[in-house]
Amino acid sequence: MSPLRLDRLLSESGWGSRTDVRDLVRSGRVTQDGVPIRDPSRKVPETDWDRLAVDGHPLKVRRSIHLMLHKPAGIVTAMEDARLPCLLPLVPAPLRTRGLSPAGRLDRDTTGLLLLTNDGLLLHRLTSPAWHVDKVYEVSVVPDTAFGQDEIDRFDRGLILDDGTSCRPALLVPMGPGLARVTLREGRFHQVKRMMAAIGRTVAALHRTAMGPLALDPALSPGGVRELTQGEIAALYASAGLPAPQGIGEAAGVGDAAGSGVGDGNSVGI
Ligand code: URA
Repeated sequence: MSPLRLDRLLSESGWGSRTDVRDLVRSGRVTQDGVPIRDPSRKVPETDWDRLAVDGHPLKVRRSIHLMLHKPAGIVTAMEDARLPCLLPLVPAPLRTRGLSPAGRLDRDTTGLLLLTNDGLLLHRLTSPAWHVDKVYEVSVVPDTAFGQDEIDRFDRGLILDDGTSCRPALLVPMGPGLARVTLREGRFHQVKRMMAAIGRTVAALHRTAMGPLALDPALSPGGVRELTQGEIAALYASAGLPAPQGIGEAAGVGDAAGSGVGDGNSVGI
């Protein structure tokens, strides 16, 4: 890996915005082998990272962050939005400057599993149309009559949407009158709603329970967020055809400030 600028390394490791960390460096609190480095633009090779310290404490470098969020209804899938409730306030404060983005979109009224990551390559892979990893939804529809075999078969063959788009085969498993579990291998705009419309149903509620190897943690209530475990990260990278990053699962260098202090107190393990 090529050397990283010190300010970027510190910022990605949880020490604040680029402006914050530049001040930190210029104040002499960041050292290499005990000697202050006062140049925030200094390029630091990875082999030197374990020689860095902040206020005398070894720098815990962590470059990538991956969060599992239980998206509540009413929130748009955007980190920031001028008018509507968005994702950033749900992210623990120390991680808000870490360049996180959602991997894919859920509609404003859809709830459930949303992955946030700051690994651009992972994000690209996960959101690329070529990424055919299962996404599982629980759907409630009207009319709330039992799903028939013909509807299951139509999902299985691949539905044609209102605009003529052909969907890949999808799995529809009836869970009760008007209730189903739907598994998709692609992620088109409003796809579940449009597929249901194609069979004459209207989605009343939509909840994503899984995406690739990730299952929504039942300990997360709506608005809750936690970091992925090492096992989840490894499985996610493998599913995206990428090697797992080094140092997965290390604690961020955010000290006591690592608690979220936000939302409903439902942030787990951050
Ligand atoms: N399909 C939809 O229609 N909406 C979502 O939010 C996700 C999948």
